[in-house]
Amino acid sequence: MSVKAEEMILVIDFGGQYNQLIARRVRDSGVYCEIVSYKHNLADIKAKNPKGIIFTGGPNSAYLPDSPNIDKEIYSWGIPIFGICYGSQMMMHSLGGNVCEAPEREYGKTLVDLDNTSPLFKGLPDKNICWMSHNDYIEKLAPGFEIIAHTPACPIAAVQDKARKLYAVQFHPEVLHTENGKQILSNFVYEVCGCAGTWKMDSFVQETIASLKEKIGDGKVLCALSGGVDSSVCAAALAKAIGKQLTCVFVDHGLLRKNEKEEVCAVFGEGGQFDINFVCVDAREHFYGKLKGVVEPERKRKIIGEEFIRVFEAEAKKIGKVDYLAQGTIYPDVVESGLGGESATIKSHHNVGGLPDFVDFKEIVEPLRDLFKDEVRQAGRELGLPEELVIRQPFPGPGLAVRIIGEVNPESVSIVQEADAIYRMEVDKLPFEQRPSQYFAALTNMRSVGVMGDGRTYDYAIALRAVTTTDFMTAEVTLLPQETICNAANRIVNEVPHVNRVFFDYTTKPPATIEFE
Ligand code: XMP
Repeated sequence: MSVKAEEMILVIDFGGQYNQLIARRVRDSGVYCEIVSYKHNLADIKAKNPKGIIFTGGPNSAYLPDSPNIDKEIYSWGIPIFGICYGSQMMMHSLGGNVCEAPEREYGKTLVDLDNTSPLFKGLPDKNICWMSHNDYIEKLAPGFEIIAHTPACPIAAVQDKARKLYAVQFHPEVLHTENGKQILSNFVYEVCGCAGTWKMDSFVQETIASLKEKIGDGKVLCALSGGVDSSVCAAALAKAIGKQLTCVFVDHGLLRKNEKEEVCAVFGEGGQFDINFVCVDAREHFYGKLKGVVEPERKRKIIGEEFIRVFEAEAKKIGKVDYLAQGTIYPDVVESGLGGESATIKSHHNVGGLPDFVDFKEIVEPLRDLFKDEVRQAGRELGLPEELVIRQPFPGPGLAVRIIGEVNPESVSIVQEADAIYRMEVDKLPFEQRPSQYFAALTNMRSVGVMGDGRTYDYAIALRAVTTTDFMTAEVTLLPQETICNAANRIVNEVPHVNRVFFDYTTKPPATIEFE
């Protein structure tokens, strides 16, 4: 399923680390945007009929023969082009300017003099802090261009050829360190490309529902619901489109967060918001049985993975042949799997590829394939999902098993569930922007002596984790307010039986992982 956007900006990726950020900023400004690799077929790029094209940054030197490049024909199409960092150098190099190693490398926040009579800098001050990160620079302009920004170390920091609608900047407008960066991208989209701003989540949701209806007809769809944001929004869109033709299967493996099952059942189950077939499989005993005595983390994961498939398979068999299998794949999964932009494969995502071969279906539907995470949340709101479901943080497939050191059993699960619920409640008192990307409690296998009332205790220690990350491949520790941690620690030792100590995990990833297993 693909979006039929009336107008589109195309980001051509030359290996820059901020490719997704550029696309997100453009979409935030109200215009649909896609990312393709610079190796993408040129005729195909033209056929997409973009209102404007953006070249990303990249790690190469434009003047070296093997560096990424794009056929010069693209400059003659009359479509506005905006080059960023490497993209700007490549544009100059291709069109007859000169790019070379800069005498002085620029890195970090830099005060840039701007010519705000240029449409690109409309409404900006004439001095603006911009994020620079380059070793090379443009030494000589290509014919037809004029300089519209400079710094002492970078005399050609931005250029334009108004007649050909070609623009380029040495700095990165897409990163937050560049003041008014959003405005610069928005100026390109509206002032240069003349976009109208038709990308709105309410119309996306309506169009998606209509096209799901059309595609699926009277077919049957099976959706594995995990209770996470992506699968929930995917199920909600399908529910609105095809109602009873949809069957959602939710497996309670006994490793869910506190109240998670109840929340999912309240929304998708009988008497909930949607008129669908909903199957909640209570497989807790089955999983606990298989996990009895197992302490080795990889072994736990393997068991859970295998048993999950087995349980799902049994349910799928009861349902029989379906026409479609629904998956909550989202745009970063597509890009990061190497199918979208140019970034090296960051992670092989569980949602892309790896289809269960035991389900008899003819095709897969992925209604959220074109959306970024924040857009998925927005779509969830449009579909009427409750806020607590829409703002959920990521939760791993093996659930709380990867947050328990030692054996997973009803008692250890209950301790970590209670501690985690308290910790999340305390962190959720912070405004949304201040909350970490992921935060949870884990149960360690350490027992130590404590004192409670007049008695001695010999109980477990809970570890609290809070990390900030964009890609989940590396992560920083989030320095939560002391008050948040202390309140959580106090409540946990007072309210959760068998816990008498709470630690905060100050380890980054690497060397630690985000999960605690
Ligand atoms: P780690 O612990 O590897 O986690 O640093 C990185 C991110 O991936 C999530 N995670 C998983 N997600 N199935 C999932 O769907 C899994 O088996 C799994 N293991 C880890 C983790 O929560 C974090 O966001």
